[in-house]
Amino acid sequence: MKIAVLAGDGIGPEVTAQALRVLEALALPDLVLFEGDVGAAAYRRHGHPLPPETLAMARAADAILFGAVGDFSCDDLPRHLRPEQAILGLRAELGLFANLRPAAGFPGLEHLSSLKPEVARSIDLLVVRELNGDVYFGDKGERESAGGREGWDSMSYNEAEVRRIAEVAFRAAMGRGKRLCSVDKANVLETSRIWRETIIEVAKDYPEVELEHMYVDNAAMQMVKEPGRFDTIVTGNLFGDILSDQASACVGSIGLLASASLGERQTEHGTFGLYEPIHGSAPDIAGQGKANPVAAVLSLAMLLRHSLGLEQQAGWIERAVEGILDDGVFGGDLGGSASTGDIGDAILSKLQTM
Ligand code: NAI
Ligand code: MG
Repeated sequence: MKIAVLAGDGIGPEVTAQALRVLEALALPDLVLFEGDVGAAAYRRHGHPLPPETLAMARAADAILFGAVGDFSCDDLPRHLRPEQAILGLRAELGLFANLRPAAGFPGLEHLSSLKPEVARSIDLLVVRELNGDVYFGDKGERESAGGREGWDSMSYNEAEVRRIAEVAFRAAMGRGKRLCSVDKANVLETSRIWRETIIEVAKDYPEVELEHMYVDNAAMQMVKEPGRFDTIVTGNLFGDILSDQASACVGSIGLLASASLGERQTEHGTFGLYEPIHGSAPDIAGQGKANPVAAVLSLAMLLRHSLGLEQQAGWIERAVEGILDDGVFGGDLGGSASTGDIGDAILSKLQTM
């Protein structure tokens, strides 16, 4: 079993280091780790945020454990050299079109949510975000206009793209509460009209799943008002990015939520995928031991489950994390004083009790 570790920039290496300690503690046989440069770190060393050797390493692995990329010192670089292109490039090159972002309340954390505790307690949702299309990958550029320089980005989705993410979402909903909410802006966007019509088509193959459609502005409002109404959400790249950050604040902190990015390629024990926290490189707290490593550790659990078929070990990690949060081991993001390393230590000692 091969895992490519791409820690990246800012807090990426700090939180990934804690996930690697957890991985080491599991002492899995036949596991080989490869470490690669990505993001601003890779740009500085190789002149490119996603060097060919990193991409080759990622391709050769069964799974990728990813930290985060992004560095404000790169803000003046042309777009194709900016660190964020590394994660977009990996998603595109590796065909990772389905991004699963679970958000569920942790017992004992309700009072730290931005929501009322009884509302926060009800959160148990999965955002299935399309990851290879939308404005992130459409044509874009700058042109002159009567109003000065004008930036433009094009948003598009074709039926095949919507169908394949819809299949993932309906299957996920079947394994959860059998309710799927498709989020779009079909009252305004042509992209969303095709999106909605295609979702309705795919729904015919999943008669057991209760399907609803919601405009994204309403979805954002419902997410803070009544998040418990959502079971599985399927949406495009941009809306999914925004709604999942929002879901993290409902749970308590962006430092808590993990994600899996999957494509079609199968590995010996599961599906090839990239696993990363939903947060970015957080330059404001980088290098200070303030980053919450829980999202990275839970990303590792998703990796073990989806790509390596190690359900039991994934469960241990998840229970260890729940345990330390229940014990009140909180970093600054949750109003506590535990450092990144303290949280890692606590997770490791919980694991020992399993
Ligand atoms: P961010 O997610 O890095 O940070 C947002 C806020 O949440 C900051 O106040 C940060 O301190 C806090 N935060 C994030 N992760 C945390 C953690 N584990 N523990 C405690 N607090 C945490 O988003 P931001 O500031 O918009 O972007 C910073 C950089 O990251 C940019 O360059 C951006 O492009 C990049 N980015 C990269 C992503 C990726 O690699 N997949 C995803 C999102 C942003
Ligand atoms: Mg985001």
